[in-house]
Amino acid sequence: MFAHALRHENRANPYPAYERLLQQPVVQMADGSWLATGHREISLLLRDPRISADRLNPQQQPIRKSLLLEDPPRHDQLRHAVTQQFIPRIMGMRDHIDTLVTELLDAHTSEQPGELDVVADLAYPLPVTVICELLGVPREDERLFGSLARRLTRGLDPVDTQTEEEIHQLQQARTELVEYLEGLIARHNAEGGSDLLAGLMNDQSPDGPMDAIDLRVTLGLLLIAGHETTVNLIANGTLALLRHPGLLARLRTDPDLATPLVEEVLRYDPPVQMSGRSALADIDIAGTTIPKGARIRLLLAAGNRDPRRFADPDQFLPDRADNAHLGFGGGIHYCIGATLARAEAQIALTALARRLDSPHLAADPPPYRENAILRGPERLPVTFERLL
Ligand code: HEM
Repeated sequence: MFAHALRHENRANPYPAYERLLQQPVVQMADGSWLATGHREISLLLRDPRISADRLNPQQQPIRKSLLLEDPPRHDQLRHAVTQQFIPRIMGMRDHIDTLVTELLDAHTSEQPGELDVVADLAYPLPVTVICELLGVPREDERLFGSLARRLTRGLDPVDTQTEEEIHQLQQARTELVEYLEGLIARHNAEGGSDLLAGLMNDQSPDGPMDAIDLRVTLGLLLIAGHETTVNLIANGTLALLRHPGLLARLRTDPDLATPLVEEVLRYDPPVQMSGRSALADIDIAGTTIPKGARIRLLLAAGNRDPRRFADPDQFLPDRADNAHLGFGGGIHYCIGATLARAEAQIALTALARRLDSPHLAADPPPYRENAILRGPERLPVTFERLL
């Protein structure tokens, strides 16, 4: 059933398959790894100190792990260094995000009636521009980096779902990424700057600045996270709005709806469907024992539809109370970019609701990307009467 859920033909709607998996909140799979689908169980595992964030096979181990795969104390040191630089830079960014959204939509004012590909025209360029500006990646490099990010994130999916060609492309992309980031760091060394990369390089905290490898690995993580996740939040949100015209009409006049709406998208159709861990000790959970050394998949998107935690889990209800979704993970690895991603999605969805007169999906469901873990539409064509 897990393999079935990941098949591309089920990408537009994997949720019925997840519903069946939810009947057993923790289960061992045919390949020996474990799968957690229950909301309670995933939440417990995310916070359990007997769990490691390293989910890679011994043959996949990189030279240096990013903070996403690290455990304390190294995880906490790296995370602290990043948040110190990241959080102050995203404060007060809402106006700038608003301007970027306006510019991207204004590019379509001449078309009446028109068509917009919400992915290519808004959901992708917005977070890419923001993360590149924040980190200090020159605008002209965005295109190059975008194609790398695409190939690299496909590498997050289970290996047996990838083709030989994709695995080859992934290795090539890794080499290109290392070269690109080393060049970027060298230029920053020479030229300095006030962006996040410059901040990390000049970190004056007691731990001192990161070494060159940590710097490169951290930068790669932030760039990919900034490229490949928020795009799906905006696209999945647009899809939910266009499938619920009543909510679209409400958002047009009530901007306060944007906050709970985006939280419901993160529950109902989360951009990151799954995460992984490994067990550092035997762990008794849900009437079974995950043995020491086992690899564990956490199907966040299934936990978000767990009927033991959410009433009417398959209904898109922004007004639901206590929406403790798993869209940004939980525990010590909770998403660092959550505030930024929320702001981008709230602003983009509000602008779409206000500015598109009579929008309709040109295809429902839209075509989906190959990726199973960072899941979202490849394209999202929307027709409209006028751009207001
Ligand atoms: C971690 C989701 C946007 C940076 C995570 C995790 C999830 C997640 C589920 C936890 C992974 C795990 O526990 O294994 C998302 C979603 C996003 C988003 C749904 C957009 C809608 C961003 C952005 C950035 C970012 C824009 C940064 C620029 C990170 C980092 C971590 C992380 C650095 C690792 C934190 C740690 O290991 O301590 N994200 N993310 N994310 N996210 Fe995001």
